[in-house]
Amino acid sequence: MNKKWWKEAVVYQIYPRSFNDSNGDGIGDLRGVIEKVDYLDKLGIDVVWLNPVYESPNDDNGYDISDYQAIMDEFGTMMDWEELLEALHDRGIKLIMDLVVNHTSDEHKWFVESRKSKDNLYRDYYIWRPGEDGAPPNNWRSHFSGSAWDYDEQTDEYYLHLFSSKQPDLNWKNPNLRQEIYKMMTWWLEKGIDGFRMDVINMISKVEGLPDGEEVGEDGYASGGEYFLNGPKVHDYLQEMNQEVLSKYDIMTVGETPGVTPKQGIKYVAKERKELDMVFQFELMDIDSGEGGKWDLADWKLTELKNIISKWQIGLENQGWNSLYLNNHDQPRPVSRFGDDDKYRVESAKMLATMNHTLQGTPYIYQGEEIGMTNVEFDSITDYEDIETLNMYQERVVEGNKDREEVMEAIYAKGRDNARTPMHWDNSENAGFTDGKPWIKLNPNYKEINVENALDNPDSIFYYYQKLIKLRKENPVFVYGNYQLLLEDDENIYAYLRNYNGQRLLVILNFFAKEVKFELSDNINFASKELLISNYEVNEEQISEIDLRPYEARVYKLS
Ligand code: NOJ
Repeated sequence: MNKKWWKEAVVYQIYPRSFNDSNGDGIGDLRGVIEKVDYLDKLGIDVVWLNPVYESPNDDNGYDISDYQAIMDEFGTMMDWEELLEALHDRGIKLIMDLVVNHTSDEHKWFVESRKSKDNLYRDYYIWRPGEDGAPPNNWRSHFSGSAWDYDEQTDEYYLHLFSSKQPDLNWKNPNLRQEIYKMMTWWLEKGIDGFRMDVINMISKVEGLPDGEEVGEDGYASGGEYFLNGPKVHDYLQEMNQEVLSKYDIMTVGETPGVTPKQGIKYVAKERKELDMVFQFELMDIDSGEGGKWDLADWKLTELKNIISKWQIGLENQGWNSLYLNNHDQPRPVSRFGDDDKYRVESAKMLATMNHTLQGTPYIYQGEEIGMTNVEFDSITDYEDIETLNMYQERVVEGNKDREEVMEAIYAKGRDNARTPMHWDNSENAGFTDGKPWIKLNPNYKEINVENALDNPDSIFYYYQKLIKLRKENPVFVYGNYQLLLEDDENIYAYLRNYNGQRLLVILNFFAKEVKFELSDNINFASKELLISNYEVNEEQISEIDLRPYEARVYKLS
């Protein structure tokens, strides 16, 4: 097994806008993060992934970048950023930055130039096409509703935007554009960062001719994903990027890759292909979506979850490396989604954490997950801030005839603002997040669920995470062990073994509130066993049969 620091690391994701506000303007900022580096250190994480902090008009909270080499005013200054890097490095924590290069903001100087005229030097930095009889060049749908094309009067052409109108897609076919991006990446690496998380990186190559998408929905648009996900040149571009930039530094990279299967995933992360170190797969995040996509809520079964995870664990074994995540700034809170955010909030949050930290791969923690923050339900759509949510509501409820209640239910379950309400630091006003008026409402449960309470309670979710992280550092089997699924067809219990150099872990997870009996198969032999961690007090000695309590999780070391 090829050892790497990033395989042994635990990553903590910070969405700065919602993390900690140091200057009372209601928006989290870099100095706010600096104030909390000791907290991160206490948790024991190794790497921070910072969501975009670059200059941006904030149409999509920083994912619409107008200057890659400047810091957004609301977040502070480049000096603040440098101080943050130093504060993290002083504590042995690395920093990876978000690289958003499928698109820029329409306010980026390249686009400002590009839209001026058809023969502008930057015209070809973006994807422009004439319309067809007054209609957009093809039927692709934007991820944020409506057509993926916007008409621009100045030159009587349309530009492509897979996300909002203010996020025009870059044209990666243009070698000058690619060189500018590599130069910018090198500039950040020279400042001392430790890697990149790459936003929708598997969308950068589009199929020649940009054909109409096949599956047209009720809205008249098609996803078109078959023509821009894992497109024809994506691996050439990433290999070029690797050769020109990434290979020159000892860094980690993780690509966000919606719609990727393990087989396709290997193409991005196999060592000999020299592209990326990890990808974020979406199969698990899609488990509760029906045919109509993300907002079409569907039930999921434990066997489906096991199946997806096992497929990736086995699919990448010895060939690539998994990223392990249960949430991020785009996803609902895991305890609300896969656990129970009410009666068994603490137990189920710990159970889910046990899973995420005992599989093979690099675990990612999203801010607030370590204290078991939950989804939020705002009564009014006007309390929501996320462009994806607001555009969808506008299209379906305001302009369409969808039932408001049903749409709100979908937002409660899946909306991105679930993850974006401010971090709960204590039970004072606004949870200690800000002294001003927060940019988005808080989850009202902050008086109970907050960092201060967690740090005061030795049984808290926080200390459970801390212990998992420590165990992972002390026992290489957590990191490098292979994966062997047990009880494949069981709809209540997820159990598996991990094996490495004579070390063995047995992980047992009761995924529901129901009490169930776990039976260990006879062919698993061991001389002795040690309980490494559990979310309940455990008294019994034997493990051949265990009456598992609601959401009970146990990890044994067998020898
Ligand atoms: C994925 C990011 O995670 C999401 O927040 C963003 O809206 C889109 N990419 C567009 O950049």
